[in-house]
Amino acid sequence: MFNKRIRIKTLLATEPAGQEVTVMGWVRTFRNNQFIALNDGSTNNNLQVVVALGTFPDELLKRITTSASLKVTGTVVPSLGKGQKMDLNAATIEVLGDSDAELYPLQPKKHSLEFLREKAHLRFRTNTFGSVFRVRHALAFAIHQFFNEKGFVYMHTPIITASDAEGAGEMFRVTTLPLDGTAPKNEEGTINFKEDFFGRSTNLTVSGQLEGELGATAFGDIYTFGPTFRAENSNTTRHLAEFWMIEPEMAFYDLEDNMNLAEEFIKYIIRYAMEHNREDLEFLATRLAEEEKQLPQDKRSEMGLIEKLEFVLNNDFERLTYTDAIDILRESNHNKKKKFQYGITGWGMDLQSEHERYLVEKHFKKPVILYNYPAAIKAFYMRQNEDGKTVAAMDILAPGIGEIVGGSQREERQDKLESRMKEIGISVDELWWYLDTRRFGTVPHAGFGLGFERMVQFVTGMTNIRDVIAFPRTPGSAEF
Ligand code: 4AD
Ligand code: MG
Repeated sequence: MFNKRIRIKTLLATEPAGQEVTVMGWVRTFRNNQFIALNDGSTNNNLQVVVALGTFPDELLKRITTSASLKVTGTVVPSLGKGQKMDLNAATIEVLGDSDAELYPLQPKKHSLEFLREKAHLRFRTNTFGSVFRVRHALAFAIHQFFNEKGFVYMHTPIITASDAEGAGEMFRVTTLPLDGTAPKNEEGTINFKEDFFGRSTNLTVSGQLEGELGATAFGDIYTFGPTFRAENSNTTRHLAEFWMIEPEMAFYDLEDNMNLAEEFIKYIIRYAMEHNREDLEFLATRLAEEEKQLPQDKRSEMGLIEKLEFVLNNDFERLTYTDAIDILRESNHNKKKKFQYGITGWGMDLQSEHERYLVEKHFKKPVILYNYPAAIKAFYMRQNEDGKTVAAMDILAPGIGEIVGGSQREERQDKLESRMKEIGISVDELWWYLDTRRFGTVPHAGFGLGFERMVQFVTGMTNIRDVIAFPRTPGSAEF
């Protein structure tokens, strides 16, 4: 059997007592022809492999270069050196794959995140990205565990769809028709999508919600966790063209139930990472503190990463209506001194991320749930409130990130839903299947969407969303 190895993380948790083990991994550094720092991706802590002088041929030692892959068998003994509890005294060393140190793009030194983004195929081999992606994994696992414990059904909604769930129209087209001008045309000269693969025009999904509602009105509680796509030309540190979203949808839920679930959910997955990935989070906390030293005092976070996560766990999210938020913003000194790029024009305006961040970071200094937004700035499916102008929407805003969750109670009354759709020009005929849930046994229901990468950003403290997804897709960039 080839792969009879012990993971370095597991090994480092044992006591060094002369046991014989085999490890495999990649060389981080090789010092004095004697000490190999070996890493296998299970932890940022390297295993020190000791090569006794004179016991291995020079040809072999020359091949132990940065990022060469090795299989090492030896005995584990207490380390004589400082900085590690154990050494692996190598008995056999096999180079599984050579790595030309001259050509290998990463040096055993600090590289900028921008540089590493261009080397995204290799950046997992650095401590920062090792930690980020182990935490990302833990959060994904915790998400499934949370919903599984609550009896939710994991539903796989389609990636290719003919509907625009958010009604925002920022979609990537899916087609097999030729792009060279020879695509079949209608009499009016427009493309005849009846001739396309699906017999109609299709896109990559922006959200699994509408299909999720079909599931919730049968299973009671469902969630989706999949990729979503938005062709919005936003070059920011919080937008991706391809991102992952978790969308729970619950029958017999109102807006307050929805907010309660979202808050419990966010705290649960943070707690999971705090319990299972402490070492990685501490590494990331130190990294962030270092990074922030470059910033002017007033741009630095008031709390360290771990402190911030603990604070979120131990405090209730602030809940307030959109209307109250507008009042706070209007009355703020920030507004009076005209420090917002977009001024507070009054009730009905859409909040910009600078406004959201002001509320969260300056005013409340904790996560905020805003609810009851003006109908005009929200999607067609949100439940209309009695006041005739707001809908039962809620957004969760997180410090340093802004909007992390968007959700609502859904409009379950068929007449109200249809008249709203007609009002804003959404085809009632095309969404016949969606409206059937309102025709046959409609129920109050609600749901939300958590942007997974924004959540990973929040927990890891990474400032750019491109650094928490393996291979980011953003305007003008789809390398790897
Ligand atoms: O607020 P959004 O657009 O809501 C929906 O899609 C609803 N259908 C959700 C639901 O009720 N089931 O998106 C939800 C979340 C946002 O709060 C944000 O965290 C994330 O998805 N998000 C993005 N993340 C990265 N890049 C983008 N371009 C994003 N757009 C939205
Ligand atoms: Mg939103």
